[in-house]
Amino acid sequence: MEPREARRRAAQAVFDGARSLQQRNRVGQFATPSQLASAIASEALVLLGEGPVRFGEPSVGSGAFYGALLRSGAEVESAWGVELDPELAGICREIWSGQLTVHTGDFTQSRGLRANLILANPPYVRHHHLTRGEKVRLRARVQEETGVRLSGLAGLYVYFMLLGTAALEPDGVAAWLVPSEWMRVGYGRPLRDWLAGSVRVERVHVFDANDEQFGDALVSSSVVFVRRAPPGSEVVFSRGGTLARPDESVLVATAELLAAERWPPSPVVTGPVLGDWFSVRRGVATGANQFFVLTRARADELGLPSDALKPVLPSPRELEDDVIEGDGELFLLDWSGPASGALREYLEQGEAAGLPDRYLLSRRKPWYRQERRDPAPFVIAYMGRKSPLRVFWNKAGRLATNRWLLLYPKEGIGTEAAWRALRSLDPADALTFGRQYGGGLNKLEPSELLRLPLRV
Ligand SMILES: C[S@@+](CC[C@H](N)C(=O)[O-])C[C@H]1O[C@@H](n2cnc3c(N)ncnc32)[C@H](O)[C@@H]1O
Repeated sequence: MEPREARRRAAQAVFDGARSLQQRNRVGQFATPSQLASAIASEALVLLGEGPVRFGEPSVGSGAFYGALLRSGAEVESAWGVELDPELAGICREIWSGQLTVHTGDFTQSRGLRANLILANPPYVRHHHLTRGEKVRLRARVQEETGVRLSGLAGLYVYFMLLGTAALEPDGVAAWLVPSEWMRVGYGRPLRDWLAGSVRVERVHVFDANDEQFGDALVSSSVVFVRRAPPGSEVVFSRGGTLARPDESVLVATAELLAAERWPPSPVVTGPVLGDWFSVRRGVATGANQFFVLTRARADELGLPSDALKPVLPSPRELEDDVIEGDGELFLLDWSGPASGALREYLEQGEAAGLPDRYLLSRRKPWYRQERRDPAPFVIAYMGRKSPLRVFWNKAGRLATNRWLLLYPKEGIGTEAAWRALRSLDPADALTFGRQYGGGLNKLEPSELLRLPLRV
């Protein structure tokens, strides 16, 4: 390994070791793994083409991307980096002395920095760690530079992407290693529209959410390659694998991106979709799971009558088999008539705890009555850190709370055929059709579930 890169890695490891994960999270301090920095640099250099590089890195850290650029053998004419943390800026300055000009400060307040190649992993600082004053300043600056009006929900990396891309020389290229959230959420919309309409997006790659190279990061990462040039006619979207060898790659017309609710737009499915075969309902919203969902042991201890208890599904994590048989250990208190004895006493405990005043419960009569749901033959876990798509055959006919979506086959569809159809769902589609939240949580709304392709 090149000696300066070896020193950089060692210094970065010492720096990381001296701070807690929470501390680094707050200021978005996660260094880019060297291999990934090299892969991004190579791809960006191909896009930039021949000629000298005038490099810039708006959140330079210890200089992972600068190191990668030197390893690539590119001819570097000039190079700057900005780093807010004086300690890191010092490390970076010392390691790359004489070659990389390191400015200690806030990139979003810098002026006049230009480059024809920007490689960056900007700080992933969520909006609730930005003060109201900071947001006002950041939004005004972005609007001044790009005309884009961001919502107050945008994380710091969105401001970096806009201000950094605006700092490119004409025909310059930027690569942004950022969480993939911006591609689907509402606050990403103005950024997406600007990227599609005002510059040229060359490629967007999304890594698998559980890709090991991101170690302790909790979000799925994307790399966006942008050129400061008028929009092109198509954008490459790739997913999974590595940048050089993605698992999947498609071309999307830029015109389609402009009006899209999400990037890449959900594919148009020509074959049957889940909604052709099933109707979907949410599971029961009890309004107080802690009170209404009881283990068998607890119900026995309280002496609750068995006709007031219905078997209910536990969390998907606790289910090993995809076919659910037997009553299990959890029960839902489901009673709507007058209560006496042990049941009355238990309900009084709920009353003493103020449950009847809770929003959902205050609208029910009596307050402990549950929503009516026919037991669903199939249930689906629609939230999860990996793919949320996990389907179960609820042979036992247990009830399900609203952490589940319930699937009922439409008329004329047999149970076995329905199960085969559900087994044909591709977990990867959950990411294409669903949404991803901060913290790497994937989720499918009922309307999204209905659009999933069935391979029958
Ligand atoms: C995700 S890290 C990436 C560091 C380095 N670019 C790399 O790839 O390893 C983001 C860096 O941005 C720095 N930073 C946070 N806010 C900043 C700001 N407003 N201006 C410049 N740097 C900032 C953090 O201290 C951190 O070093």
